[in-house]
Amino acid sequence: MLEETKVLVVDDVPDIVDMLAEFLKLNGCHVFKAYNGQEATKVLNREKADIVIADIKLPDTNGISLLERIKLEDPTTPVIMMTGYFEPNILVESMKKGATDFILKPIEFDKLLLVLLRAKREKELLTEKLRIQDSLEDKKKIMLLNRELQNKIKELTAMYQISAKFNTVRVHEDVFEKVLEITKDIFEGRSAAYYIFDGEKEEIFPVRIIGDKGKMERRITFDGNLTKDLRSLKKHIELEDLFLVPLVIRSECIGFLGLEKKKNEKEKSAQEELFLLKLIAEKASTQIENKMLYESLFDSIIQTLNSLIISINRRDAYTQGHCGRVTRNSLKLANLMGLSDYERNALEVISPVHDIGKIGIPDSILLKPGRLTDEEYEIMKNHSLYGEEIISRFEILSNEAKIVRYHHERYDGRGYPDHLSSTDIPLSARIIAVCDAYDAMVTDRPYRKAMTKDEAVAEIIRCRGTQFDPEVADVFVDMIRREGQFKKGENG
Ligand SMILES: [Fe+2]
Repeated sequence: MLEETKVLVVDDVPDIVDMLAEFLKLNGCHVFKAYNGQEATKVLNREKADIVIADIKLPDTNGISLLERIKLEDPTTPVIMMTGYFEPNILVESMKKGATDFILKPIEFDKLLLVLLRAKREKELLTEKLRIQDSLEDKKKIMLLNRELQNKIKELTAMYQISAKFNTVRVHEDVFEKVLEITKDIFEGRSAAYYIFDGEKEEIFPVRIIGDKGKMERRITFDGNLTKDLRSLKKHIELEDLFLVPLVIRSECIGFLGLEKKKNEKEKSAQEELFLLKLIAEKASTQIENKMLYESLFDSIIQTLNSLIISINRRDAYTQGHCGRVTRNSLKLANLMGLSDYERNALEVISPVHDIGKIGIPDSILLKPGRLTDEEYEIMKNHSLYGEEIISRFEILSNEAKIVRYHHERYDGRGYPDHLSSTDIPLSARIIAVCDAYDAMVTDRPYRKAMTKDEAVAEIIRCRGTQFDPEVADVFVDMIRREGQFKKGENG
C-alpha cells in the first residue's frame, strides 16, 4: 500500500530515525534521513518526498517552521509531526499550518501505518484538487483568451472588410459617398457624415450624410484654438453622441468623418470602434489622395489629347466642328439614357478624339474631295484601330480605348473592325455611332450636300436595328426633334 512512497524522516535522535526508516522500508517505502531542519531542507531540494515525518523540536529550528517551508514549497506534501509530549497549543498550531497528523513518541507502528496511509491518500487528493483547480483556472484563462480572440477576429474581420471595400472603390467614383457607405456598413447601419470646416465661424458642418439626417445635420462649434489645433494636430474628437475622426491629406486635415455613437456604450468597445473608424478615415484619405492624383493625371492626358485633336483639325477642317458636335450630342444622349458617371466621363474624354486614328491616314485619302474608292475606304477604316492604339497608350484609358475601336461597329454585326453586334458593342460606342453618323449626314461635304434635319432623322429611323442600336436611335431622334433648333448649314 505504501510501495514506492518516498518518505523523509527528520529527527535529531538517530535511533528514532533508523527505527522509523527500518519500518518504512519494510513497507516498501524509499526513505531519506535528516537530523535537523537544514539537512531536511537540503534533502527536499534534492529529492521529491511524498510524505515528511518530522519531530516538532529540532536542534536548529522548530518543526513548525520546517512545516511552513515545506507547505510553501509544495502544499500537497503531507507532513506528520512527531512529539514526545502532548502539547495541545503546539499541536493546534501545527494543524493550522497544514500538518496532516501527529504521532506521539514512543511510536506505535500500527497507528503510524494508518496515519501514513491517510497521508498518502491526502497527497493524492490534494494533487487531484490542485490539478482540477489548475484546469479550472486554465478554463477561465481559455475562456478569457477565447473572448479576446473573438474580439480580435471581429476586429480583424472588420479591418479586412474595410480594406476589401476600399479596394473595390474605383477612382472615378464618388469617394466621399463610398466612404460613408463603408462606414455605415461596418457600423451596422449607424448614421455617418462628412464634415468640413467653416473657417470664419470656427465650426464644422456636414456636407454629406448617410442615415439619419436629423442626428447628423448640425453645426459643431469649437473655440478658435481648438479649430486651429484640429487642422494641424489631426486629433479625433469625441462628443456625447458623435465620433469625429480627421481625414488627413498631405499633413492637412481636410475634414472629418463622423459616426453616430451607440447609446450607453462601454469604454472598451468605444475605443475599438474609434480604432476602426480611424482606419476607415486613413483608407479614405489615401483614396481621396489617389483620386486627386488621378484627376490631375486625367487633366494632363486630356491636355495631351487636345493637342492631338488640334493637329488633326489642322489637316482636316471637317473633323474640327464634327468632333465637338458629336461630343455634345453624345453627352446629351448619355444623360437621357441614364449612363453612369463613369460612362459619361469616358464619353466626355473619348468623343472628341474618337477619330484620332485619322492621324495615320494619308492626306491623299483623308482630304480627298471626292468619294473614296473601295481600296481607299479599306485604308480609311483603319482609323478606328489606329485610334485605339493611340488611346490605349494611356494606361488609365485602356477601357476607353475600346470605344474608339468600336465606334464604327453596327448593331447588326456588319460594321468594322470586329463585326461585333448588339450589346457586345459598348453602349458608349453605340451612342457615338448614332451621333457621328447623324452629324456626317447633316454636314456639307465636298462631294455631296448636307441632308436636312428631317432627312437625317428619317435615315436614323430607317437604320434603327440594322446600323444603329434601336433604343439609342429612338432616344436620339426624340432628342433632336424636341430640340427643334437645327438649322441647315449650322454644322457645315
Ligand atoms: Fe470615325
